[in-house]
Amino acid sequence: MICIVSVVLLLSMIGWLSWWWNEIWYVRPLKARCSASNVKIPLGHLGFPLLGETLSFLWLFNIVSRPDDFITFKKHKYGYKEGIYRSHLYGSPSIIACSPSLCKFVLNSSDKFTQEWPTTQVLGANSVITLNEGQQHSIIKSAIVKSINQPDYLSRIVLQIQPTIVAALQLWSQMPKINAFYQVKKVTLDYTMRYIAHLEIGSSQIDAIEKLYQGIVYGFRAQPWNLPGTAYHHALKCRKEITKKLKEELEKRKQKNKDSVSGESAIISDLMDGLMQMKNNEQRHLSDEEVLDNVVSTILVGHISIAYAVTWSLQFLANNPHVLLKLREENKAMFKEDNNESITYEDILKLKYTKKVAEETIRMANLSAFVFRKATDDIVFEGYLIPKGWSVLVWLRNLHNDPTNFEDPMSFNPDRWDTRPKQGTYHPFGGGSRSCAGSALVRVSLAIFLHHLSIGYKWKLLNPGAKVKYLSHPLPSDGLEISINKV
Ligand code: HEM
Repeated sequence: MICIVSVVLLLSMIGWLSWWWNEIWYVRPLKARCSASNVKIPLGHLGFPLLGETLSFLWLFNIVSRPDDFITFKKHKYGYKEGIYRSHLYGSPSIIACSPSLCKFVLNSSDKFTQEWPTTQVLGANSVITLNEGQQHSIIKSAIVKSINQPDYLSRIVLQIQPTIVAALQLWSQMPKINAFYQVKKVTLDYTMRYIAHLEIGSSQIDAIEKLYQGIVYGFRAQPWNLPGTAYHHALKCRKEITKKLKEELEKRKQKNKDSVSGESAIISDLMDGLMQMKNNEQRHLSDEEVLDNVVSTILVGHISIAYAVTWSLQFLANNPHVLLKLREENKAMFKEDNNESITYEDILKLKYTKKVAEETIRMANLSAFVFRKATDDIVFEGYLIPKGWSVLVWLRNLHNDPTNFEDPMSFNPDRWDTRPKQGTYHPFGGGSRSCAGSALVRVSLAIFLHHLSIGYKWKLLNPGAKVKYLSHPLPSDGLEISINKV
């Protein structure tokens, strides 16, 4: 009897100590430091040693598909108004930023919060995505934005990519069913490689290259253990192979430039060329590695994020036929049988309802649920301490799903975009110096898909109740299986 009691007591003590260990280890010293001042420690709980709250986070995001409960629980327990909580996620003590003012502050204070990647090797150490803020980052970023996200470029690619989209839709309608995410990804990969590096890969190679890119994605935030069998090791191998392919194109261009009679570059005016021509702040041309790291990573984030957005638009429209009807009406009025059925960039600007559908898709899809930063120093925001070295998760998803920011946030309502959202409540593309380099591109791409889908096709979800997996990015677990037919 005594023995059982002792075991129970011991287990309770171990349980108690495990539950409070992180609090004692990380938070007590902070409380002692702050006791003399008015500075408060954000409310919350750091969970178990090493794991923190990661298990409940994974449970809510990927098993029961209720990601917003993670924050709702904190709001109920610690207060709605705070908008700042403490936690322990992804192996680090963390601050969760939820309020519009704090999100904005973190996104706009790159001197106080650095971007955090477990490793830079998978995306490329010279990629704009992994480079620390500074001149090199801002020069490369502006070259990328100039090459893919400005009106003159967009008006060109609008015409370039439509035949591929029109042909793909026709092909899908001849198939009994498709996995929408997979099929859209192949289309976006095909045209992204063409407009970023003028690479024609052809349908025979597209599956293989898509598989390589998928391999990189799995290694994104994996632990950097470079051992055979790990996601990280595989991702590095995949990146090496893609880089090799793009390097062949780079070498061809260098040769062409050498051979050109005038000695001037044979300008192709795509992103690869833009990066080859540019000089950094020391007036030095970028190295091959710097060019290739940026080409590989921009193709990666570009084609995948557009594919996610298009997949979600198919889901939202299937569930909201009245929206599809209005969309069809607007787009039929714009239909052009001449000009290969293509609409122009100027046409897209006139498609007001389509624009609202695209925006509502981006809001509700919440493709970047949060972005990661690390506090470089102790920072006090509105009386709360953000401790030096802690991770800061800017919880963008909460901005878009909070009923105080968007009325009835879970309903797909394009007409809500008749008025502008409250200031600071809409940040799907991040903000500050690290804001997305492809925000206009994704809006235009969505509009083109929506145009051709709505005028020519109807589709049905084959597993309407499929659960959504929210990590690493939200997607129905079946990849959105649909059957698609001509109207
Ligand atoms: C709906 C689609 C998209 C969403 C929701 C999205 C979201 C984001 C977010 C939130 C960030 C900021 C990350 C951070 O602060 O840590 C970001 C950065 C970035 N995005 Fe996007 N993005 C999308 C589409 C695209 C496309 C189509 C491209 C390019 C073709 C692109 C290229 C980039 C790049 C290069 C960065 C890094 C910028 C930097 O670090 O300075 N994105 N994106």
